[in-house]
Amino acid sequence: MVMDATKAGAGDYLLERMGPANVFVRGVSHVLKPGKQACLAANLRTVIGNSGRVFLAETNFRGNSLAYLDHLGATRQSVPGQLQRALKNLPRPGHFGARERHRIFTAPPGS
Ligand SMILES: C[S@@+](CC[C@H](N)C(=O)[O-])C[C@H]1O[C@@H](n2cnc3c(N)ncnc32)[C@H](O)[C@@H]1O
Repeated sequence: MVMDATKAGAGDYLLERMGPANVFVRGVSHVLKPGKQACLAANLRTVIGNSGRVFLAETNFRGNSLAYLDHLGATRQSVPGQLQRALKNLPRPGHFGARERHRIFTAPPGS
């Protein structure tokens, strides 16, 4: 099931279908803006009802991106294998130069 867990009514929807549930949430709140974090929390509160629990695992890293790589074990000499694999899947800058520009913006007829 795919849904926006911050949307109003998402908690009621899940509660209705699954009854009070235990919920494991990992690494979602830190990517949300504060208002959306509160919406997620309200939906979680609804889903657990009177008997469920929330197990929240979050990121709380305060440094910059380079400090984070350092924290994950990268040095100037080596990058741990798991981190290398994760980095390989990050979006990379592509190529859009003169050749590509000429390819899609063709000269008007007669010019
Ligand atoms: C940093 S990833 C963590 C992924 C995974 N839970 C983990 O621990 O590896 C953040 C996740 O939050 C999800 N997410 C962000 N906003 C969301 C929202 N409004 N409702 C549901 N999921 C959301 C994203 O789709 C993404 O999968």
